[in-house]
Amino acid sequence: MKLYAGSWNLARRLFLVAAIASLAMAQQAPEPRNYQSPPETLPRRVPGQPVRFSHKAHAAQGIDCIRCHPDSAKKFEAGLPTPRDCMGCHRTVARDNTSIQKLVQLIAADVRIDWIPVYDSPSYVIFSHRKHVRAGETCQTCHGDVTQYDALPQEVSISMTSCMNCHTQRGVENECFWCHELNGF
Ligand code: HEC
Ligand code: HEC
Ligand code: HEC
Ligand code: HEC
Ligand code: HEC
Repeated sequence: MKLYAGSWNLARRLFLVAAIASLAMAQQAPEPRNYQSPPETLPRRVPGQPVRFSHKAHAAQGIDCIRCHPDSAKKFEAGLPTPRDCMGCHRTVARDNTSIQKLVQLIAADVRIDWIPVYDSPSYVIFSHRKHVRAGETCQTCHGDVTQYDALPQEVSISMTSCMNCHTQRGVENECFWCHELNGF
């Protein structure tokens, strides 16, 4: 099955390179290019997270996004809190809560928490939080009002069309190679 998956990946990548090359050659038209991402139904719910986590409850405590997503102004990925980060507060706060007790058990057993991704671009897309946050774009613009949810769904599109529409509005160029690393194949 591994071999099959590998060649399927290769086929997809070759297809992508060919598609990008032919689109890039065919489209000399002004911005935005006339590619249209497939329609999506938003908000899109994800299956339950491995441990209960509520953005609503934590926002109500006045905790800033940066506290739990510390790399959002520094790196490509915004970063997610580890169980130990949670315990930084929960060693003292809400210790009797059943979810916190579950957390304590996971830490004791040295088990990783694999949060289910809500916003997830394909690997051939280059996206840097640092660039965008430093340019003054807010979390809300791309992720909606996360503070209203106990279970976070995807509220805002991160399709190619949505990327390009904002770039066009902000006067940022939409060259294919910015968002797709063509030599990485
Ligand atoms: C310009 C749009 C944009 C802005 C602004 C933005 N994000 Fe994101 N965010 C994305 C996209 C696109 C992804 C998916 C990236 C991927 O899969 O590589 C993502 C993924 C994430 C993730 C999960 C993966 C990761 O990077 O760790 C977190 C957490 C996150 N964003 C938090 C934030 C926070 C907090 C802010 C504000 C400080 C923020 N984002 C601002 C577009 C944005
Ligand atoms: C900066 C401090 C801080 C961090 C970090 C933190 N929390 Fe909390 N959390 C709180 C506070 C304050 C409350 C509210 C407690 C109350 O109402 O008694 C809370 C409440 C909760 C609750 C109970 C409310 C509910 O929604 O069921 C759970 C579960 C919880 N947190 C899980 C987590 C998890 C999981 C993490 C790590 C991903 C985490 N917390 C990280 C401060 C924090
Ligand atoms: C107390 C910690 C905490 C705070 C504060 C917090 N988050 Fe999160 N965030 C998490 C955890 C844990 C997850 C993974 C579970 C989930 O998706 O609900 C997450 C997930 C996310 C995701 C989806 C990540 C993905 O994998 O796609 C986004 C977007 C996000 N947070 C944005 C924000 C924004 C914007 C704020 C501020 C308004 C914020 N968060 C505040 C802990 C936090
Ligand atoms: C809400 C507006 C907005 C959205 C949505 C947005 N961008 Fe951007 N993007 C910007 C701005 C503004 C800049 C210019 C930043 C600068 O000049 O430093 C930029 C710059 C970039 C750059 C160029 C970085 C460089 O090397 O100079 C890349 C690559 C990029 N964005 C990728 C993406 C991708 C991929 C998406 C969609 C997943 C996306 N952007 C969605 C506003 C946006
Ligand atoms: C601002 C960022 C950005 C730019 C510029 C950009 N793309 Fe994309 N592209 C994306 C994102 C994000 C995705 C994945 C999400 C999606 O499929 O809509 C994607 C997906 C694709 C796909 C796969 C589509 C599919 O249906 O599987 C192709 C092919 C592609 N891009 C070609 C191009 C070409 C050709 C250009 C130049 C005209 C270009 N891209 C410019 C962000 C960008």
